Amino acid sequence: MDDNARSRINARPSHEGVRDLLDDFEKMGELVKIDGADAHLEMSALAEQVTMRYPGEEPAILFDNIPGYPKGFRVLSGASNSYKRLAHVLGLPEPKGRIDIVRAYKARMKEKFEMTPPREVPTGPIFDNIMRDDEVDLTKFPAPFVHELDGGRYIGTEDIVVMRDPDTGWVNVGTYRIAVHSKNTVGVWMSPGKHGRLIREKYFARNQPCPVIISCGQDPILFLCANAEMAEGVSEFDYAGGQRGRPYDVVKSEVYGLPIPASSELVLEGEMVPGETQLEGPFGEFMGYYASEASQQPVIRIKRIYYRNNPIITMAIPSRPPSNFTVARAAVKSSMIWDECEKAGLAGIQGVWCHEAGAGRLFNVISIKQQYPGHAKQAGMLAANCQSGAYAGRWVVVVDEDIDPSNIHDVVWAMSTRCDPPNDIDYIRRHWSTPLDPMLSKPPWENNRAVVDACKPWAMKDNFPITAEASTELREKVMAKWPDLFNRS
Ligand SMILES: Cc1cc2nc3c(=O)[nH]c(=O)nc-3n(C[C@H](O)[C@H](O)[C@H](O)COP(=O)(O)O)c2cc1C
Repeated sequence: MDDNARSRINARPSHEGVRDLLDDFEKMGELVKIDGADAHLEMSALAEQVTMRYPGEEPAILFDNIPGYPKGFRVLSGASNSYKRLAHVLGLPEPKGRIDIVRAYKARMKEKFEMTPPREVPTGPIFDNIMRDDEVDLTKFPAPFVHELDGGRYIGTEDIVVMRDPDTGWVNVGTYRIAVHSKNTVGVWMSPGKHGRLIREKYFARNQPCPVIISCGQDPILFLCANAEMAEGVSEFDYAGGQRGRPYDVVKSEVYGLPIPASSELVLEGEMVPGETQLEGPFGEFMGYYASEASQQPVIRIKRIYYRNNPIITMAIPSRPPSNFTVARAAVKSSMIWDECEKAGLAGIQGVWCHEAGAGRLFNVISIKQQYPGHAKQAGMLAANCQSGAYAGRWVVVVDEDIDPSNIHDVVWAMSTRCDPPNDIDYIRRHWSTPLDPMLSKPPWENNRAVVDACKPWAMKDNFPITAEASTELREKVMAKWPDLFNRS
């Protein structure tokens, strides 16, 4: 890597919170403002359709003048969900192809990444307004009703949920959906094995209430890190601080002293009490289905609402992919799988891509330069089992270095011509999954998955039939001769 490329990768974003990005997005031609869409179904359906139409290139949508709510109480869809915006948010160079973001993120992880814990500050914009105890009223905010068959409104979708482990003090941050039950209670759904759920179980085992902070609008980097599968004991605040190259400013919450990003837009503070549950869901989910029914889930009693003047709720729309967060998730997850496989000692990785059609989780491809017999199998098994690749996976495909893992044509061609199904597909049984998997109908929520070796067989590698395509020299020659053909938008 030359010094120029290195300095671009080591540049860092300068924004604090999500609102600081809006001007940039507008200048980049990456923001659309919509007035008058209803929080009941209209905002989400519109954003869903825009994502479907322009996946990877859709604009962010800022909804204002939402009927029934004060002007300025806004909702933002798809904050980091285009290749351009994602690179901007992360402070990475503008990508030419989607795999460029993965390469740049991955290079940053290797070159210059340090866990950076947050810095506590006495106050911040999130304390502009505070509703305490009896003043708490969730109905004042335009919580979206996302899909037609949902069980209610969801104020937390593109959110971050902060909890503290009662034994170790570890502060975990995860993204979990948050349903509005009443003016001062919400419900949360956490999949088995998720850190927030494990922490809650520790409090409940002692018959103690479990404190929780929910930020419903924040810097997209925090969201990207909260919904990535970090190792146990790692605080996503520290990881996100490492990504942006400086600590997050956090203020202490009034009731439980939990950290709140000072630049968050709307934050709820409350507690879950052992034994207190309410029907939560159903909710259309990220695999594209209503796979699980409404169920009894813990209630969070809200004791404080903190919000900035003219707050912005960030909205994710889990649905049939691609969704308004899957581009960003695909890029971050791909980078993390690459990084983890490399740190586990795997040689020769050329790229990783978690396809958006697999919701950024279910169809993951790793490309390697084969160096020894069994290399492809090792790569596939690692990608399927590392911390970032384990949860709710279905397919891992290993391809050679001439295959771009993010190009579905390349990948299907490799699967179709370099794979002998009875010999080259292995199954991993009873793996970590979720009630959201439409193929599962009862606990334990374990699924089966396939690791597909679509590399040229090791024994045939050096005399595999030659690929029928124009050579690089011939390609470059004709493209230089007729450049207009290749500059069409
Ligand atoms: C938009 C979005 C919504 C999500 N909602 C949930 C949810 O409601 N429940 C859940 O268990 N995981 C949900 N996830 C996945 C988790 O955020 C993810 O698995 C994360 O790693 C959880 O944090 P943890 O590893 O600290 O538990 C969601 C992810 C995204 C991108």
